[in-house]
Amino acid sequence: MNEDVLEGTYKSYFPVFEAHPDLIYLDHAATSQKPLSVIEAIKDQMTFENGSPNRGAHKLSVKATEIYDNGRRKVIDFIGGMDPREIVFTKNATESLNLIAYSYGMNFLKHEDEIAILISSHHSNIVPWQMVAQKTGAKLVYLMVDSEGKMPASELDKINERTKIVTFPWISNGIGTRIEPKRLIEKAHEMGAVAIIDAAQVAGHERIDIAELDADFLVFSGHKMFGPQGIGVLYGKYELLEKMPPFLTGGDMIEYVTCFETTYEEVPKRFEAGTQNVSGVKGLVAAIDFIEAIGMHSIQNHERKLTQYIVEQLKKLPFITIYGAETLADRGGLVVFNVTGVHPHDVASILDDYGIAIRAGHHCTQPLMQHLELTATCRASYSLYNSEQDVDRLIKALFKVRKVFGYDD
Ligand SMILES: Cc1ncc(COP(=O)(O)O)c(C=O)c1O
Repeated sequence: MNEDVLEGTYKSYFPVFEAHPDLIYLDHAATSQKPLSVIEAIKDQMTFENGSPNRGAHKLSVKATEIYDNGRRKVIDFIGGMDPREIVFTKNATESLNLIAYSYGMNFLKHEDEIAILISSHHSNIVPWQMVAQKTGAKLVYLMVDSEGKMPASELDKINERTKIVTFPWISNGIGTRIEPKRLIEKAHEMGAVAIIDAAQVAGHERIDIAELDADFLVFSGHKMFGPQGIGVLYGKYELLEKMPPFLTGGDMIEYVTCFETTYEEVPKRFEAGTQNVSGVKGLVAAIDFIEAIGMHSIQNHERKLTQYIVEQLKKLPFITIYGAETLADRGGLVVFNVTGVHPHDVASILDDYGIAIRAGHHCTQPLMQHLELTATCRASYSLYNSEQDVDRLIKALFKVRKVFGYDD
């Protein structure tokens, strides 16, 4: 598979490009396209292996339980951990972050405690903490970034003995800049705070080694790493999960229920109320298999080359403003830019006429946009199904966008 990827025939793994041969998909950061192996795995599960997990004694139920439990093992291996009990399956990164906020934040934070949030966070890592602050009286403290999306070292001074939570995106979906997670985690731990990594834009792009990172919580969504929508991951250190009360309650997460009282299941089942998304887990496992068959290193190399190429090409256009880090090593697999004289929404809709899918708007990072004094931007995000030819087509189409608005470049 390795050579196919490097030779650029990788698109053939993704049936969407058979259905839409002219599609240039540059919206990977919003949701990835799915390889055939993931689609087939889900189809097989639904066709041959469908049963309710954790409930029955019959074969299909046992099979569903097996798929689910093996999925936990697969995910903990994928992120370099040891204990599958530290993996909770959720709907997506958003639900994982809400779980931490509601179960940990609401119960262990109090008046005057501080929650340090990197300003480049996605709304899903801001709004839940606003709720915690409103309820507990804890204070939100923002760690700021510079115009390139990098956090100056001086911001670490805002983390102090009152800080109980430090939360940040490893790579920001709003500006594409990578943060060095270790220094934030170490500072959080020095001050006795819990460190949370939002790895939604990292999972499936580069290796995650949770043992090395030593983060307390880490979240990501399956659908941004070639898996299906509706399955997300929360990694939490066992000793933290163990002391947290349930988030959602009902079936499956209980040990014993009387009319007025309930005892709860062990971790992680305590956090997985109701019938779980077995086909989602099956698809996520297939996505991890796909990534491992290609090799994380190859994916990363491919994305790095594309980042270099797209930045170089966009920089040649005098009517483009690029945001994000100057150094390529500080960038993730997305480029944020604006076209002079054209609103990002117009750019996106005209590009769509040329078969090019990008994202325009605030990218669910409004506090970052306010900080950078921007209202909206265009975002091109990519993965191994993109090529330099895709970038060339984007560049050509950007001239056409300008032409529609009367510019003759
Ligand atoms: C950095 C980051 N965090 C969290 C999310 C939320 O992901 P989901 O909508 O899958 O919950 C996104 C989605 O774009 C993201 O880019």
